[in-house]
Amino acid sequence: MIEIEGITKRYGETTVVKDVSLTIAPRTVTVIVGTSGSGKTTLLRMINRLVEPTSGTIRLDGEDNRTLPGFELRRRIGYAIQGHGLFPHRTVAQNIATVPTLLGWDRARIDAKVAELLTLFQLDPAAFGPRYPHELSGGQQQRVGVARALAAEPKVLLMDEPFGALDPIIRAKAQDDLLAIQKHFETTIVLVTHDMEEAFHLADRIAVMDKGEVVQYATPAEMLVKPATPFVESLIGAGERPFRLLAIETVADAVEPGAAEGEAISSTASQREALSALLWSGRKALPVIGPDGAVIGKVSLEGLAQRAAGPA
Ligand SMILES: Nc1ncnc2c1ncn2[C@@H]1O[C@H](COP(=O)(O)OP(=O)(O)O)[C@@H](O)[C@H]1O
Ligand SMILES: [Mg+2]
Repeated sequence: MIEIEGITKRYGETTVVKDVSLTIAPRTVTVIVGTSGSGKTTLLRMINRLVEPTSGTIRLDGEDNRTLPGFELRRRIGYAIQGHGLFPHRTVAQNIATVPTLLGWDRARIDAKVAELLTLFQLDPAAFGPRYPHELSGGQQQRVGVARALAAEPKVLLMDEPFGALDPIIRAKAQDDLLAIQKHFETTIVLVTHDMEEAFHLADRIAVMDKGEVVQYATPAEMLVKPATPFVESLIGAGERPFRLLAIETVADAVEPGAAEGEAISSTASQREALSALLWSGRKALPVIGPDGAVIGKVSLEGLAQRAAGPA
């Protein structure tokens, strides 16, 4: 658990983060969004004390983050940034091994960890471990950057626009990989982005920042139905609301009894994907298949239209 309490950061006369309080539950993904210059990076970097707050307290599992020396804190908290920040003259394996080596892990344990992470990120350890960063694609470099941040099995992973430099298809894949890895290691992730689509895809809770203040801290569904301010509403994009609502729910929650013709959709797909399939195929309903492959009902255009409607 991360408890941010009354955190303020001033540079001279300028307040860049203003009295922010947030409680972040363990094993969740919290996304901080906001326009450029709203204080997202500064807030994130106060968690691992790359930036020292002017006032306020941050506790990690009940412990004030000032009780540990900064370097120790940063060994314990993973940190991944846009453009990966890999050491160019170290191999992929050496890059990933950075923090475990500092912590004095033995060779066998380090090698096992490097192999485990590369495999999880779908990079063959034998092929990729000995390569240098410039011998990798942008997407592969990004995965190695995240693997390195996770190497010492941190409970907390801070990510600052980690996928900002990736093209849309690789980016979507990187987001899905991150969610899978977050579940695998049960990491608490705090991620900064200015991309609302990314926020809605990844977040258990979203914190919206505007001029140094958190103006809303809520689940994606709450935020869609009840944006706290006109700024939040504009950030969500009024025209996107019904589609975002459908995108954060799965077909499993929209299954109706009955049969439908044609190609089926998985109950784990998003309702937005179901809407897309309905519109594209010109059908009124799709059969839905459950986790074991059997048809469990249908999802209908009418049903989704009701679900996408805002509060009356
Ligand atoms: N070291 C610093 N000294 C002075 N001003 C800074 C410093 N770091 C950030 N700022 C200012 O604080 C504001 C918030 O910056 P930042 O947290 O990087 O915003 P974001 O990540 O949301 O784009 C900006 O106006 C920026 O210029
Ligand atoms: Mg930033």
